[in-house]
Amino acid sequence: MSAGRQYHNIALVGFMGAGKSTVGHVLAEILGFELVDTDKVIESRAGKRISDIFAEEGEPAFRRRESDLARELESAHGKVISTGGGMVVNPENLESLRRHALIFCLWASPEVIFERVRHQSHRPLLQTPDPLGKIRELLGARAPFYKQADVLVGVDYRAPVETARFIAASFRRQRAGVAAAVSA
Ligand code: S3P
Repeated sequence: MSAGRQYHNIALVGFMGAGKSTVGHVLAEILGFELVDTDKVIESRAGKRISDIFAEEGEPAFRRRESDLARELESAHGKVISTGGGMVVNPENLESLRRHALIFCLWASPEVIFERVRHQSHRPLLQTPDPLGKIRELLGARAPFYKQADVLVGVDYRAPVETARFIAASFRRQRAGVAAAVSA
């Protein structure tokens, strides 16, 4: 975290099923911020579900929509931004978020992720015969990106409300620290 940065927003990053949307709701409520769920914004603008964007337009088209939205959010204030699990795999998106948001990564183990997503079917990347293997593979490849977040929060043993409270406290402390550094 750098003292020169200004945090107008919070970004939640991390793997599918880590709980970004659920934690985002509670966090937005605690801070009186507005929740922006990037997957939901993309779906509502496209007029179709993410699985249909992947099927009809291909993953690169989805990634373009995601990057365009990341750029647009640079002017946001007072938002909790819950990102899709692949957003920060593009370093430009991560840098873009860094310009305005304190970035928290929700970190879950492959086994916990698997338990959470095994009965869901809306994530095209996990519609494979061996979802746990795919989770391990993708998480391994993405770990270096997720670990560039400002704060890593282990969520295997934390309820969403606890995670949200922890993030809210951490954000308030960080912002107060930055303000003190700026006025000193
Ligand atoms: C993706 C994660 C999904 C969604 C899309 C691709 C990914 O979001 O953006 O299916 O590449 O990890 P969630 O992390 O909210 O499931």
